[in-house]
This record gives sequence, C-alpha cells and structure tokens, in this order.
Amino acid sequence: MNKPSIQDPTMPNETLLDLVCLSEQDTAAFAARLAAHLETGSLVALTGDLGAGKSTLARAFIRARLEDDEAEVPSPTFTLVQTYDAPDGTEVWHADLYRLTDPEEVYELGLDEARDDAICLIEWPDRMPESWWQDALEITLEIGDAGARQLSLRGDKTRWSKLVAEVAA
Ligand SMILES: Nc1ncnc2c1ncn2[C@@H]1O[C@H](COP(=O)(O)OP(=O)(O)OP(=O)(O)O)[C@@H](O)[C@H]1O
Ligand SMILES: [Mg+2]
Repeated sequence: MNKPSIQDPTMPNETLLDLVCLSEQDTAAFAARLAAHLETGSLVALTGDLGAGKSTLARAFIRARLEDDEAEVPSPTFTLVQTYDAPDGTEVWHADLYRLTDPEEVYELGLDEARDDAICLIEWPDRMPESWWQDALEITLEIGDAGARQLSLRGDKTRWSKLVAEVAA
C-alpha cells in the first residue's frame, strides 16, 4: 500500500526522530513515554508492514494511558475501532483501517470528531483522508534483526518537536 500524501513534497512532514527498539519491551517502553506526553486531539499514524509492531506499540500505549498493565487491548483488525476511557478523562481510539475501501468511511466510524476530542492511534492510515496527514504524528516501524524495530517519527516540526524532545529524553 502506498501513502501518497506523506510523499508529497508540499507536505510539511519531516523526520523528527529515528530510534531503534531492540525488543518488544523497548517498544513498549517507548510507547509508555509517548502515552505520558501525548495530548488530547492528537492523531498518531502507525505505518509499517504486517507484523511490524503497530498493534504492539498501540497496546502498550493504551495500557500506559489506562494505568493498567493487564488491560485487554484486542487488535481492531475486524472491529476497525476500539475505544478506551483513561482515568484522566481522555478517550483513546485505536483504529485499523486496513479493511476500509473508501476514505469517506472514516467519518462513519466517528474518527473525525475523535481527532479533536480524543487521542487516535491509527494503523494502516493510508486510508485516511489526505488532509489528515497534516496534523498527524507518523510513526513508521521497520522490522530489523532479532526482534529489533527501527522507529521513525515524522510530522510537522512546529506541532510535534516539543513532544518528540520529551519522548526522546
Ligand atoms: N521490538 C519489537 N517491537 C514490537 N513488536 C515486536 C518486537 N519484536 C518482536 N515483536 C513481535 O512482532 C509482532 C508484531 O505484531 P503486531 O500485531 O503488533 O503487528 P502489526 O504491525 O500491528 O501488524 P498488522 O499490520 O497485521 O496489524 C508481535 O508478535 C510482537 O511480539
Ligand atoms: Mg495491527
């Protein structure tokens, strides 16, 4: 699948941080740092091949936000969207758009309002309307050797550089 919008040179998105997570625990620790700093009204676009770790990262993020290491966080592959209520009053939406055939379907799922009122973690975001990329923090996962994952964070520098500095620290 391609992501035409993110490759469009007119888009403001640029690489903000590259890091390697050597194990699933490393990825979970990164996700927990992200969860500690990400504000309501944020959209995270999780890209990467099948099995790259998008759901694993999202699960760790949600558990951190729910303050519950054991919380059930099923992959939204079939339900398309799962929502969670965090103790701080924030809603977290976890979506997998792999099965969407038309970008307009995101409106039926309620994702448009959730972009403003909640935190949205979106797998297979190439199905999103193109304009949504402008606000998104994109996290790409690439499979490396022996359980390692290369993570690359991209987004509009003005919007995301403070968060990225906090997460990288
Ligand atoms: N460093 C790592 N970070 C994340 N996952 C890892 C890592 N090392 C191994 N894994 C394993 O890789 C798999 C990632 O699966 P996951 O379902 O998260 O992928 P996905 O990107 O969501 O795939 P899909 O596109 O099918 O939704 C899990 O089995 C996880 O245990
Ligand atoms: Mg997944």
